[in-house]
Amino acid sequence: MEAKTPKDSRTIMTDMVLPGETNPINNLFGGELLARMDRAAGISARRHSRRIVVTASVNHVAFNRAIPLGSVVTVDAKVSRAFKSSMEIYIDVWIEDRESGVKAKANEAIYTFVAVDETGRPVRVPELVPETELEIERFQGALRRKQLSLVLAGKMKPNDATELKALFE
Ligand SMILES: CC(C)(COP(=O)(O)OP(=O)(O)OC[C@H]1O[C@@H](n2cnc3c(N)ncnc32)[C@H](O)[C@@H]1OP(=O)(O)O)[C@@H](O)C(=O)NCCC(=O)NCCS
Repeated sequence: MEAKTPKDSRTIMTDMVLPGETNPINNLFGGELLARMDRAAGISARRHSRRIVVTASVNHVAFNRAIPLGSVVTVDAKVSRAFKSSMEIYIDVWIEDRESGVKAKANEAIYTFVAVDETGRPVRVPELVPETELEIERFQGALRRKQLSLVLAGKMKPNDATELKALFE
């Protein structure tokens, strides 16, 4: 399988925040943002693997900044590392100032998708080769995030999470 770069899977989705998508104080409802990020991340994983993909886990979400009604929101997703059948997707969320058009980072999230066959069994995905400094940094942190996610899901013993443990030594 031919290796791919993060730009091969880059998926950018821009949309507005409408009244039915807000909480009682008129900011974007968290679940709505999770769904938008899940969609963009799913397309990104599909572009990398060219297979059926499913969300295996939401590893991290930081709702750092409220997104007001009427905002133009851009969800920018890229595969940050590919393992055997799983892929880590890094998502940056930007909002655009109405007058200046300048984009500010609002939130970020990390999802894990797994490529599967028609029966739902995991299948191999192409390797990912990071290019930019940020892509290399995200690539290098992905193994310990995978181990943390597996430990929290009860799918890996903490003692086996060597990359994660090394952080505390
Ligand atoms: C995701 C799924 C395919 C994993 O199946 P599984 O039987 O655990 O398969 P495996 O143990 O072989 O794991 C497959 C890969 O997923 C990874 N994985 C599984 N659970 C994970 C988790 N919680 N966090 C990170 N990675 C995870 C494994 O490490 C493995 O990665 P690798 O092949 O790259 O090394 C299966 O759990 C599933 O189908 N879940 C439902 C998915 C779904 O419907 N999502 C939408 C929710 S509404």
